[in-house]
Amino acid sequence: DIPATAVALRINGVPGTLLLDNRTTLLDALRERLGLTGPKKGCDHGQCGACTVLVDGRRMNACLLLAVTLGGAEVTTVEGLADGDELHPLQQAFIDHDAFQCGFCTSGQLCSAIGALAEAADGWPSHATPPGEAPSLSDAEVRERMSGNLCRCAAYPNIVGAVREVAG
Ligand code: FES
Ligand code: FES
Repeated sequence: DIPATAVALRINGVPGTLLLDNRTTLLDALRERLGLTGPKKGCDHGQCGACTVLVDGRRMNACLLLAVTLGGAEVTTVEGLADGDELHPLQQAFIDHDAFQCGFCTSGQLCSAIGALAEAADGWPSHATPPGEAPSLSDAEVRERMSGNLCRCAAYPNIVGAVREVAG
């Protein structure tokens, strides 16, 4: 018998319980069980960032998380960013800045950028921002904070522009 566990999660605001093989990653649970194919499986090894989602507001590589460890968590995927027909400001900025070509990395870039901006607003990492100062979000700072998300189309300058617009 394959060990299975019932896991209660909130996915994009919707509560539910999944019975999962204990070896199931969050990425496979989202894509294969829930049909949320926004998060992409680029490498399945934590190297590309295409699978990035928000778990309790923090950006995570969904390919590296076992879903059974996440009981009670709030998971947000790219499918949960817009408010009805109104895009998240970062989604609009990606359009305005032409920040994608094939789009394979975009879901992860968006979730990662939301997490990165939240980290910057919280003053994390502490060495990045002197006490009492607003977080620096120069091009270099955005590139560093977004360095876990690869883009094979090399849309990096446009991605940085979109993230800086929202940060500003
Ligand atoms: Fe998760 Fe590449 S698929 S980091
Ligand atoms: Fe193609 Fe980033 S837009 S990989």
